[in-house]
Amino acid sequence: MRVADVAVRETFDSRGESTIEVSIQDGNGAISSAQIPSGKSRGGKEAVVLPYARARIAGKVIRHAVSGKRYASIREFDRALLRLDSTPRKQKLGGNVMLGVSVAFARGLAAAANKEIWRILEQEFFSKKARVALPVVFSNVINGGAHASNNLDIQEYLVLVRMRKPLAASVKTIIRFYEALGGTLKRKYRMTQLPVGDEDGYSLDFKNNFEPLDILSALIRRLHLQKDFSLGLDAAASNFYRSSRYRFERARLTTDGLLNVYRKYFRDAKLLFSLEDPFEEEDHAGFLKVSAAFPEKLIVGDDLTVTDHERIAHYAQGCVINSVIIKPNQVGTVSGTCQAIRAAQTHKVACIISHRSGETGDNFIIHLARASRAYGVKIGAPVNERVPKFDELIRIYE
Ligand code: PGA
Ligand code: ZN
Repeated sequence: MRVADVAVRETFDSRGESTIEVSIQDGNGAISSAQIPSGKSRGGKEAVVLPYARARIAGKVIRHAVSGKRYASIREFDRALLRLDSTPRKQKLGGNVMLGVSVAFARGLAAAANKEIWRILEQEFFSKKARVALPVVFSNVINGGAHASNNLDIQEYLVLVRMRKPLAASVKTIIRFYEALGGTLKRKYRMTQLPVGDEDGYSLDFKNNFEPLDILSALIRRLHLQKDFSLGLDAAASNFYRSSRYRFERARLTTDGLLNVYRKYFRDAKLLFSLEDPFEEEDHAGFLKVSAAFPEKLIVGDDLTVTDHERIAHYAQGCVINSVIIKPNQVGTVSGTCQAIRAAQTHKVACIISHRSGETGDNFIIHLARASRAYGVKIGAPVNERVPKFDELIRIYE
């Protein structure tokens, strides 16, 4: 595809915060675009997010370098971007700008070939041999930590839902579950309205960090959903780690102290299956201990791994994790993201392709999940700005 023009404009995410949309015009005048989400509980090693004023300038640098040139593949185009900024965290051009250009380019290639973008991704990066299984949806229904102003230290309480065909029926079950949860919480706490957090999960105060797991487990059982539903947590523990201790429910815990909390959670909530970022991103010993203690559960890296293929391979080999969150804007290019997924596949680590807490209407992550036959997709509560991702899931998997 020949690139004729690149433009970066300011748009707004689901939190009402400034983000960017990038458009590429090809040699025939066709325009393709990408909107970039933005995280609030970011890993320390993620690609840099440039504010709009600087993103605009970075867009001009890229435009100057790539306009008039022809690129045959996403890899080739991304290599041109990486030649302009080879810093590990994309400090010069910003992970947000580079990813926007990279996704827009991939969409341009897909449009020129009259194909869905997942087919273009599959063709360039992934094997078609593996069976296409329907993904497990990770839907965040109770919010705490950095995503809410309530008393929960744990950031996310997720239902993990095995999808079945027809997918619309599975999605409807998630929506009904979310509504039933709202009803249960209103009755229990005698509230007429419930506050919600950044990912649209309920965000009232609870007795302690375990209570939401108890309420969710009881509701899954009451609705007879145990066959397809289990539970997950994203502790995002870097956010409650200060001065060498985990500040958890007014206690100051060591790694072993927090490990004991997780032991109790796994013992008392039988449906709890996945645990993301249980320890802060430098506490590899903590990850290793929880992985060794619960080999049958998903121990998921996010801030730990930041969608970096070397980190994923390293921690997978060391048995520090058996599962990983993939967020394209942590690494800043489509090919970097696909390389991270492939590293995970090589090391038999399950991939969960994830949104960010500040979302846009862009549905690229669903295509990435389909192309890579990912184990899971993490897409928030099934309401408001998160719904288009559920809808795209129905469309491209059905
Ligand atoms: P973020 O959090 O999008 O706010 O960074 C999501 C997560 O920690 O998984
Ligand atoms: Zn996370």
